[in-house]
Amino acid sequence: MEERWPWEEESSLEAPDPLAHQRHEESVKEKLPRVIKLLDVQDTVMGQSSPHQTGDIVCYDILKRAPVYDLTSHFSDIKPHAPARGAHRHISAPTLFCLRGRGWEINDGKTYSFGTYDMLVVPPFTIHQHGGDEDAGAQIFVPQSRMLSILGLTKREQIKFGEKPEFPDGTEPLQDENGKLIGYRIKKGVLGIKDAIDVMLGGDPKTEAVFRARKEAQPWQGSVENTYDRYLKLFHDESVFCNTVTHVVAYDAEPWEWCRQGKFKWFTHPEMNSAARRLWLYMQEIPAASRSGMHRHMVEEQILIIEGRGYDLHDGERFEWERGDLVSIPAMTAHQHFNMDAKNPALLLSSMPSVGADLGLGGIEQLEDAPEFANENG
Ligand SMILES: [Fe+2]
Ligand SMILES: [Fe+2]
Repeated sequence: MEERWPWEEESSLEAPDPLAHQRHEESVKEKLPRVIKLLDVQDTVMGQSSPHQTGDIVCYDILKRAPVYDLTSHFSDIKPHAPARGAHRHISAPTLFCLRGRGWEINDGKTYSFGTYDMLVVPPFTIHQHGGDEDAGAQIFVPQSRMLSILGLTKREQIKFGEKPEFPDGTEPLQDENGKLIGYRIKKGVLGIKDAIDVMLGGDPKTEAVFRARKEAQPWQGSVENTYDRYLKLFHDESVFCNTVTHVVAYDAEPWEWCRQGKFKWFTHPEMNSAARRLWLYMQEIPAASRSGMHRHMVEEQILIIEGRGYDLHDGERFEWERGDLVSIPAMTAHQHFNMDAKNPALLLSSMPSVGADLGLGGIEQLEDAPEFANENG
């Protein structure tokens, strides 16, 4: 039989209508819910984590549970007295938001501690391992962007196992001829995977060389003579930045600000000293029986309801939510949040893809001001 290129197997590319795929996606997106209940945490080889709430972090797993393309999130639960989890490293810099309890994080051998509502950011290429407080444990929410996966930078390596590794259903240990644990297998069928995946301990030499160079570059010494030199210098600047940047953005250290959209506390955005470049992350408190402003932006948004109950208006359509829900706001949607509780404030944690700002699409269009802000300034 005549051999075919992989793309020749893809019938949608042969379709006479070049926008057929986009239209199909739009119709899938329209049917997906704006408000979802969280998927429970499960036992994994590295501890207890939830599956990604709106589809896996890789970019081909979009539009599975919610109408967002770039954003997903998962939970890591560390019970009191749980054994220390394993250590791994990857290119992306995750934002770990502590929802409950307190914990610690070892980044390249240095320990950082965090408490409830603090955010920890692991700089790229860093070997990291986290755990909870012995008595309190910790629940960590990890909002994520798929942007790095689109760029072919999903690279992730398991460096060591946890203290007492357990192999839940669907996984099994891999040992060398001396019985030493060298990795584990995720069996075919788990989370829908079509073939078994072997996760081996340790880094491969190429990744090790690339990561090491990026971590160990010293401050740029020479002058910048031409445009190309700027990017040679950038390589050094990025290394210095990652080696000196803040790892913990503490709830107490960041101010609450009243703005036209309401009462905000920012955890990361492009102007903040943090290695979290994938996302903007902010907390919003909506007073009892009140509402946020209404705004619109080009990029999508994902909101975890930390406290309270209420509803959103998305282009005029109403979607109710309560504590623990995850709300998805598709790109280019006018939206506003309403607190239905007459006595207590609602607390929301929003994430947005930061890449919008790099694309010249980061501006926010204000359509209506929050009532408290309008009263004070009107
Ligand atoms: Fe990680
Ligand atoms: Fe928004």
